[in-house]
Amino acid sequence: MLSSQADGVEKRVSLHGHWSSRLAFVLAVTGSAVGLGNIWKFPYVVGQNGGGAFVLVYLACVALIGLPVMVSEVLMGRRGRRNPIATMALLGAEEGTSRNWRWVGGMGVLAGILILSFYSVIGGWTLSYVLKSASGMFSNATAPEVTAIRDGFTGSWKTVVSFHTVFMALTIFVVARGVERGLEQAVRFMVPALLGLMIVLLGYSISSGYFGAGLSFMFSADFDKLTWDSVLAAMGQAFFTLSIGMGAVMAYGAYLPKETSIFGASVTVAIADTMIAILAGLVIFPLVFANGLDPADGPGLVFITLPLAFGQMQGGVFFATVFFVLLSFAAWTSAISLMEPAVAWVVEKFNHTRAQAAVMIGLIIWAAGFGTALSFNVLSDFKFLRGTIFDNLDYLTINIMLPLGGVLIVVFAGWVMCRNSTSNELGSSGTLYRLWRLLSRFVAPIGILFVFLKAVGLLPDLS
Ligand code: PHE
Repeated sequence: MLSSQADGVEKRVSLHGHWSSRLAFVLAVTGSAVGLGNIWKFPYVVGQNGGGAFVLVYLACVALIGLPVMVSEVLMGRRGRRNPIATMALLGAEEGTSRNWRWVGGMGVLAGILILSFYSVIGGWTLSYVLKSASGMFSNATAPEVTAIRDGFTGSWKTVVSFHTVFMALTIFVVARGVERGLEQAVRFMVPALLGLMIVLLGYSISSGYFGAGLSFMFSADFDKLTWDSVLAAMGQAFFTLSIGMGAVMAYGAYLPKETSIFGASVTVAIADTMIAILAGLVIFPLVFANGLDPADGPGLVFITLPLAFGQMQGGVFFATVFFVLLSFAAWTSAISLMEPAVAWVVEKFNHTRAQAAVMIGLIIWAAGFGTALSFNVLSDFKFLRGTIFDNLDYLTINIMLPLGGVLIVVFAGWVMCRNSTSNELGSSGTLYRLWRLLSRFVAPIGILFVFLKAVGLLPDLS
């Protein structure tokens, strides 16, 4: 590599500051990764897609596709030290191709905005369950009663919108203050506490008498039930839960000090994230079967099973309240990272302050959130393509935009960037580096494209 270019890269700093330590970065990315995707979404997509086989495909996607994409995002972010759009333009030019790679960053910014528009509605739903739990209304409630409470909430668009508004306001508040202040503290406490409470819940679900049924639903794989559409959903879920494919991790990587090992940090985050998702499944499915509920119930699943479980527990009012507070925190730290690419872009491009940028982007997302908020009530019969507005947004962003962004990111890191740039940034050229390169040049891009083409029916069966 030319030494002048290397010097330029070494001296680059981010306009937005840097993480105070390696731990701060790992916590921030874990805070981004662990969220509604693990506890709200994972159990219900597993339920809708028939269980075990889906879980196995999901785990394979995390390891073989998710990890190389995550490493690529962090290394690109740290090398560019700008928002994802500017980073892609800069690195594209620096590697001698085109600044047009910025459109990959652009698609990521858009994906973040669209995802947060529905994420915030579910985040608000979680907040409202803090109040409901604290009021004691779940104590000794039966399954039909808990279902009625949920339907009462989702059925009132004013309530859904109010809580969505509160959730967005909280998110804008933290993003405006900057990611270091506040975020580090919140995550340091939240992730271990959430893990602890999940283990308490696991104890309860083991004692429900249906733990075996839940376990076999999650882990006995019946590949006959698996369609290519569910394989795509498993891959999308892997992207969504790891926060990759849209530049959130790239934006956080831009604030990463030079010395930190990117491999170590990425593997730590992926393991923590996967553990929490699996734990959520192990808590929820036994409760589904114990209460005669339908695992394919959809987005409301955790909002029924967990209140039911808490309602029957000693000290349930307390535990339920704490649980929904923690889940709200987890959603909050993810929401922040969904906004970060857009906000960093507005700050750098238009010279606005962080506060101005956060309010502007936040208002756009808040308004877009009406599409989802109304999908559960006023517009619940307004269906096209995949279903309601929420169903379409969910499918478009998670199953299409994230994997598409992911494929372009690994192709960029694996094929466009020269060996020197990536091995320099990763601080290694040994076995791990070669493994990463093999995965990002071949396994991940071919895997993603294959699943895509299969799911839309463009690749015929060979038999
Ligand atoms: N990973 C988050 C979750 O599981 C969602 C997320 C997706 C956050 C993409 C940032 C970027 O809840």
